[in-house]
Amino acid sequence: MKHINIFAPGTVANLGCGFDVMGLTLDGVGDLLEIGVEEGAEGLSIHNRSGISLPENLDDNVVTPAIRAMLAAYGHPVRVEVTILRKIAPGSGIGSSAASSAAAVYGVNELLGRPFPIERLVEFAMQGEALLGGVAHADNVGPALMGGVVLIRGYEPFDIVRLPVPDNFFYAVVHPDIVVSTKEARAVLPREIPLSQAVTQWGNVGGLVAGFALRDVSLIGRSMHDVVVEPYRKGFIPGYDRLKESVLALGALAMNIAGSGPSVFALAADYGTAERIVSVMERHFADLGIGSKVYAGRVSNAGARVVES
Ligand code: HSE
Repeated sequence: MKHINIFAPGTVANLGCGFDVMGLTLDGVGDLLEIGVEEGAEGLSIHNRSGISLPENLDDNVVTPAIRAMLAAYGHPVRVEVTILRKIAPGSGIGSSAASSAAAVYGVNELLGRPFPIERLVEFAMQGEALLGGVAHADNVGPALMGGVVLIRGYEPFDIVRLPVPDNFFYAVVHPDIVVSTKEARAVLPREIPLSQAVTQWGNVGGLVAGFALRDVSLIGRSMHDVVVEPYRKGFIPGYDRLKESVLALGALAMNIAGSGPSVFALAADYGTAERIVSVMERHFADLGIGSKVYAGRVSNAGARVVES
């Protein structure tokens, strides 16, 4: 059996207005997996050595549907062994499930001699997301594999576009110690929206994409507004409006819910501001008697990659 170690980064999905179609890559946080592959044999096993509690049943692990989709498309017998060595805490809102699925399919593809382009790997990895949220969305697995910012232009047919992120672009994320399931956070959303809201939303998505393409951080900041999803989900996050006001007052370019929450993220043009934002975020939840974990760092252009053992 051939082995390889793969790192896949954490990600923030939606970016406000880009529900299910935009996400970006975080630096300095992610999953580390050892992948083993043996051609001509069959079977899948997943071992967890991360120290974090994960589902023990193979069919409940997000990696399983991702690998199965990939091997079905490959069409030859392959035995795959996955060992999860380091893991972002599940439910953190920074793409924990996506990082594992992304690392797994990336590693198998490397060991098989790269039969699939990266865009196909995103399609395989997003099958893992369906296990948690009921819908196969790629706004976390896309950036976890490709790095930078991604836009999923369409799901049928699948069409994904990668945009580079500006060099000096930083994130602040807080993960409050509350549970919001992706299923529940999707169930509260309206099935239909008024045309006036749709116009506002697609104006902002266009502005966000243009902001990344033009490396215009001010345009990115003023486009990161969401009139469709945030109003329904913010009720899950205690004191959300108050927190947003304080974070924007500190000089954040924007603040919104990270994926389906409960984490909240902000973007900043310098690291010092990102650090000040995480202290305010931490204090906000502490004042409400809620513990939290915070992360601050650079937004990254680097996606999944091979690392030394
Ligand atoms: N786009 C997804 C959502 C991300 O907001 O439900 C969560 O996995």
